[in-house]
Amino acid sequence: MAISIKTPAEIDSMRLSGRLAGEVLDYITPLVQPGVTTAELDRLCHDYMVDVQGCIPAPLNYAPPGYPPYPKSICASINHQVCHGVPNERPLKKGDIVNLDITTIKGGWHGDTSRMFIVGEASILAKRLCQITHECLWLGIDQVKPGARLGDIGAAIQRYAERNGFSVVREFCGHGLGLNFHEDPQVLHYGKPGTGPELSPGMTFTIEPMINAGKAAISELADGWTIVTKDRSLSAQWEHSVVVTETGVEVLTLSAGAPPRPNIN
Ligand code: MF3
Ligand code: CO
Ligand code: CO
Repeated sequence: MAISIKTPAEIDSMRLSGRLAGEVLDYITPLVQPGVTTAELDRLCHDYMVDVQGCIPAPLNYAPPGYPPYPKSICASINHQVCHGVPNERPLKKGDIVNLDITTIKGGWHGDTSRMFIVGEASILAKRLCQITHECLWLGIDQVKPGARLGDIGAAIQRYAERNGFSVVREFCGHGLGLNFHEDPQVLHYGKPGTGPELSPGMTFTIEPMINAGKAAISELADGWTIVTKDRSLSAQWEHSVVVTETGVEVLTLSAGAPPRPNIN
């Protein structure tokens, strides 16, 4: 399938859906505390999307080929969970790190973003992993401009993650986004500069590096969704949706509470 180019009006629709996805994370941020369950966070985010924003939560009943329908409205991936963690009744505890991943559908258009949350106080390693992964996301975003190649994004992310002693998950990647939750292209978080399709204005996709403190290998749990590190080391992920502009990149999932672009040394 070819990479679709969105019109200015379509990009405007994606700006709205993207901002709303970011605002769900803003809304839930103060509620991510020791003692709350991820099922409760799921319910609150669901009601906010549906009742306040007039959005559809894209994960709910999402069933790509080979997967059972996803049973919840957000993904909540704790500690050694890499991605697609299914919210449950286990309370968060001090020291956990958790990724909350929100995908909205507004007027048919998707917005997809995730952040890491530190519950109470976390270990130095956990905090560093969350920070380096956030920096990886932004180093990837920095590569995006017309004429650049998709491989430039993954190369920048891989180089920085590995330079810091961490590893990049290979089995899951960023993705084209629009009327579909997942469309072409696949945005790998590793690779070689100057390889892959050339970026053109109007392309919209996510960048969502999953970075492990230990080895890169993953396993899938019996629920058919939750992905964990094989060595049970900590994993972190941050995600934004972006559009290639005439001059560079615009991040579609920024909101008032989004952590700003970090200064990277
Ligand atoms: N939001 C995830 C992504 O960034 C996909 C989650 S699929 C779900 O691509 F069904 F688990 F929600
Ligand atoms: Co995504
Ligand atoms: Co996502």
